[in-house]
Amino acid sequence: MAETAQDVLRARVVAALTAAYDADAGANPMLTPATKAGFGDYQCNAALSLAKKRGQKPRDVAAAIIAALDVADLCEPPTVAGPGFINLTLQPAYVTGRLNAMLADLSRLGVARRSGAAAQKVIVDFSSPNIAKEMHVGHLRSTIIGDALCRMLEFLGHDVVRLNHVGDWGTQFGMLIQLLREEVPDFVGGSGDMGNLQLGDLVVFYKRAKARFDADPAFKEAAQREVVALQGGDAASLRAWQAICGQSRVEFQKLYDTLRVDVTERGESFYNPYLGDVIADLEGQGLAVQDQGATVVFLEGAQFINKDGSRQPVIVRKSDGGFNYATTDLAAMRYRVREDGAQRILYVTDIGQSLHFTQVFQVARRAGLVPPEVSLEHVPFGLVQGEDGKKFKTRSGDVVKLKDLLDEAVVRSRAELEARLAADGRTESPEYIADVVSKVGIAAVKYADLKTSRTSNYRFSFDKMVKLDGDTAPYMMYAFVRTQGIYREAGGGRSLTDMEGKDVAFEYPVAAELALAKTLLRLPEVLAELERDLCPHVLCEYMKGVSTLFNRFYEQCPVRSAESEALKESRLALCAITASVIKRCLDLLGIETLDKI
Ligand code: ARG
Repeated sequence: MAETAQDVLRARVVAALTAAYDADAGANPMLTPATKAGFGDYQCNAALSLAKKRGQKPRDVAAAIIAALDVADLCEPPTVAGPGFINLTLQPAYVTGRLNAMLADLSRLGVARRSGAAAQKVIVDFSSPNIAKEMHVGHLRSTIIGDALCRMLEFLGHDVVRLNHVGDWGTQFGMLIQLLREEVPDFVGGSGDMGNLQLGDLVVFYKRAKARFDADPAFKEAAQREVVALQGGDAASLRAWQAICGQSRVEFQKLYDTLRVDVTERGESFYNPYLGDVIADLEGQGLAVQDQGATVVFLEGAQFINKDGSRQPVIVRKSDGGFNYATTDLAAMRYRVREDGAQRILYVTDIGQSLHFTQVFQVARRAGLVPPEVSLEHVPFGLVQGEDGKKFKTRSGDVVKLKDLLDEAVVRSRAELEARLAADGRTESPEYIADVVSKVGIAAVKYADLKTSRTSNYRFSFDKMVKLDGDTAPYMMYAFVRTQGIYREAGGGRSLTDMEGKDVAFEYPVAAELALAKTLLRLPEVLAELERDLCPHVLCEYMKGVSTLFNRFYEQCPVRSAESEALKESRLALCAITASVIKRCLDLLGIETLDKI
């Protein structure tokens, strides 16, 4: 069976368009899920553009398509709506078949594992903070979005490599090591022991080092010598560098643990040995040239032409001989293609880096570092803003530290839970409360981020994100708890997964049941869309739809006191699929479910 109802319908529409008109018409079936309730489940919009092209009436064209369309085995008779949309409504019997396919394996829910040529080696470059600098909210977004994309790709059966392209190389280390050399002499020249230095201190150190670098020529010179020493592999400098990186790494890891995110560090320094090769390759091909002492590649395309007609360059080796961010990215691309065998490479960073990626992708393509069949995709995201729509800052105007932000989310979710417990007269153990609020707090931050259309800026609001009603993580987690509650109550001590593998004769006496059922079976379609467009908010919207329809079902369709055993079984099975769908979606977003909330 084709993976989704949409796939089946698309193929049928293509056949109809081809038969009624020609292959050209068939090339664009324009089949989408229905945009409004009452328009069926799917709609085909092909008649409108076809009619325009042919100078015919759209409704006539729609009728001609329907005449050629064979969907009797899965749809009600198609209808024409408005100016010429074709509405397609799935038959209950077809829905039942799909639901049973989901029930057959609740861990996959009808979602096929990609195999053969469809299974790709995908590198996801995400998180990627900079050593000796605090991680900021942008890195939080990259971490959360990147992790969600990895989870989705892994679930679909791709071979995913999660890479943390940490900023662990470059001129800032010269200043840092030089200042450390002066202030903690033992550290660089002596034992290499850092004592009690914490990353917080390193950040302050970094700021001081930068100030010295800008103001004091002797210091600047010494720092530059330090860079050369480090890049030349000087043992003491390398040891200091490693200690600094180690210190940062410990801090970063605490955050990854809190967020439950797995990512493998392969920082910028890793590609250092390959930078020279890349430049030589670019020069050999005549792409890289000397310009005012630097080595540059002039870019192609209208957007890179200056007013005076000259072309903008991307610098790959500075006039002092140093390499930069772009050079490292070129070397990384080459390595990922040649050594890792990547077929798709994703870069999850803020939208401010779009120009950088456009430039390096162009150079990599022209130089043949990345062959055409390998896909390079920048996955940009918008800025995080405060509730006032301005830059996200603390009250005192400082950058918000990630740790403080996550701690605050937990504090807010504790307040929410305690108020709710008090209102319900419920008592829970301190351990229970601590466990729930730590999970809910983190979940709330993740969900609030992921539900926003990726490229939009998003306004950070603690109060909104921890609410139990609304488009929040707690709401979705609660919907899951509810599915389980029904089961405990109506399922006679069985667990949700006991439904797995059953062949259920679903019944849909109440409209809410069929509506829920049809939404559930869209999961594979939604994931296919996510796989292509990499927009996690689509999954959030889908899950929100499932939860809302489930709540309606819950209100309108008694399970324990269903009119017949068969109807009860049908409803229990719907609960089981709903629970598995919500759990799966939350898991793909990096959110844990709870049994009680
Ligand atoms: N370290 C960079 C930053 O903090 C992000 C790196 C993104 N990845 C890459 N391959 N350029 O902005």
